[in-house]
Amino acid sequence: MMQSVLLDKVQHNLSRFDCGVAPLNNYLRLLAGQQARKDNSRTFVLEDRTQPAHIAGFYTLTMTPVDLAAMPATLQKKHQTSTSAGLIARLAVDQRYQGQRLGEWLLVDAMQKLLQASDSVGFPLVVVDAKDGAGLFYQKYGFTSFADSPNKLFITIANIRASFT
Ligand SMILES: CC(C)(COP(=O)(O)OP(=O)(O)OC[C@H]1O[C@@H](n2cnc3c(N)ncnc32)[C@H](O)[C@@H]1OP(=O)(O)O)[C@@H](O)C(=O)NCCC(=O)NCCS
Repeated sequence: MMQSVLLDKVQHNLSRFDCGVAPLNNYLRLLAGQQARKDNSRTFVLEDRTQPAHIAGFYTLTMTPVDLAAMPATLQKKHQTSTSAGLIARLAVDQRYQGQRLGEWLLVDAMQKLLQASDSVGFPLVVVDAKDGAGLFYQKYGFTSFADSPNKLFITIANIRASFT
């Protein structure tokens, strides 16, 4: 069974990770652990099956303000009292593991975690920051681009819930 675990800089080899995008590599190596210690975000990793110190992929979750103005009118009206959305702030797969559906697995895992969080805290949307044209990757899984920024996409919690039940 595949399972994500919290990043642990003692157990995990951070310097080995290479998704091909330097800012994402650097975030994992230098910032992810520190941000988690401060409770600013959480980073989950998928370990290599046979070598758990090797990170196959990771994602980082936190919250972000809702940009209602850049959303379709029906959603603006429905969610006008809400202020925060769940944020998939980073998501990447090491180049040695790309093309094996691990990005898909990580995205589903991240959405399940956010759905579960929304069951107790209550927020209506999930937002993702897509770097380097990866917006198309997220669109495959039901995300819609914000009107003012194609690299920022959203999906409703209601959509996520419907796709998992
Ligand atoms: C984008 C990324 C997360 C995808 O992970 P992956 O494990 O290689 O992808 P998967 O094997 O799970 O692919 C699942 C599907 O998404 C598609 N896909 C993969 N990367 C894509 C991209 N950049 N754009 C559009 N579609 C993409 C695959 O072709 C596959 O499609 P299919 O269902 O038609 O077969 C990974 O390639 C990566 O980390 N890239 C570098 C960093 C990056 O751009 N991260 C995302 C922005 S923060």
